[in-house]
Amino acid sequence: MLPSRSEFPGDFIFGAATAAYQIEGSGFGGAGPSHWDTFAATPGNIADDSSGARACDHYHLWETDLDLMRDAGFDAYRFSTSWARVMPDGRTLNPEGLDFYDRLVDGMLERGLQPFLTLYHWDLPAVLADQGGWRNRDIAALFADYATAVQARLGDRLASIATLNEPWCIAWLSHFLGHHAPGLRDIRAASRAMHHVLLAHGTAMEALRADGARNLGIVLNFETSHPVDDSPEAAESAARQDAIYNQWFIRALMGQGYPETALEGIGPHLPEGWQHDMERIAAPLDWLGVNYYTRKLHGHLPGPWPNDRAEDGPLPRTRMGWEIRPEGLSEFLVRLARDHIGDLPVLVTENGMALEPGEDVTEDAARVAFIGEHLRAARSALDQGVNLRGFFYWSLLDNYEWAFGYGPRFGLVHVDYASMKRTPKASWHAFRYMMRG
Ligand code: NOJ
Repeated sequence: MLPSRSEFPGDFIFGAATAAYQIEGSGFGGAGPSHWDTFAATPGNIADDSSGARACDHYHLWETDLDLMRDAGFDAYRFSTSWARVMPDGRTLNPEGLDFYDRLVDGMLERGLQPFLTLYHWDLPAVLADQGGWRNRDIAALFADYATAVQARLGDRLASIATLNEPWCIAWLSHFLGHHAPGLRDIRAASRAMHHVLLAHGTAMEALRADGARNLGIVLNFETSHPVDDSPEAAESAARQDAIYNQWFIRALMGQGYPETALEGIGPHLPEGWQHDMERIAAPLDWLGVNYYTRKLHGHLPGPWPNDRAEDGPLPRTRMGWEIRPEGLSEFLVRLARDHIGDLPVLVTENGMALEPGEDVTEDAARVAFIGEHLRAARSALDQGVNLRGFFYWSLLDNYEWAFGYGPRFGLVHVDYASMKRTPKASWHAFRYMMRG
């Protein structure tokens, strides 16, 4: 059972989230290739060797998908525009791409859904990746140009804009751990990306504000970091991981500077003069988006910094192997308010779980329980004084789960990838019941 809607403030926003590359289908409609197309085309990078070429065919089925959002009774839809669709070479506008998003936004408004746009959810135009992507400082100005082009076309109808989704994944997961495009394992590349993502955010914020854009934010992911045992090495590993993952971005955004514990390893590889960018990076935000899924246990790994070995702990896990720990959500929301953002409005922009394929075609009791527990954790954060304004489930549809391919199913709605038929699951019905109040 989900909690009753009346347990939340009257203007609390409920929605579901998706991202372009994970649902639309790529490489047609005038779109250029993105670095995810390249990454997925390289053997061994994706669990089932799949790509987002067809995904959920949302590009053609978007009206059905928006109907599913409306019929669930949601207030808002969090979606992303694909840079490679809007600007196939990263610079030149593709009118067909912008037309698609124009129809999509009108479709949301016709159905009473507030459009929550994310500008970058990972589909970097391949041409820009060739030029160094997030390693190249030029990305900041290029991203700001893309942001203002989208704002010029859609801005009059958007409820809010997030610049980036999960900069930790864009920079660290993709350039240090090598799990996401461009698949690098390189401390210098990763360190530069850790700075350039924030510079791109700050540069875009300035440009968007100058163009009169409203309600601007950014979406960060947070993951509880606990020591694997009671050794001092494990405590150090967990603290280092917490600094890289949970503090690097929010501290810089709030003008608190990069955390020393992370600078120890990243600092020597940052671009020269990075300190002069910090003011731009700390441009005032209207809201912060929080994505929360799980916690990890950390221990010592011999070798070069950051000497980190991550493991899943003993709690029940999802199909991703991720432990289910709802109290982590309230802990992060309270910690963010206390240590970083004060009274700044905050939204849970993602939370969700994947079940085994086939296990959950319509009866997904485990997902309903998961959502209920996390909504109660959100409620607890409100009780502790956090200025929490909404909650978006990840995801509306089963979709392309990046390096895991189509195996994990996060959707409230099942997608049969052969027929593209959509079937609402029990969790979709549970939200529908809840939304009716
Ligand atoms: C975060 C990402 O924003 C989204 O793209 C992804 O599918 C979910 N987490 C689940 O891993």
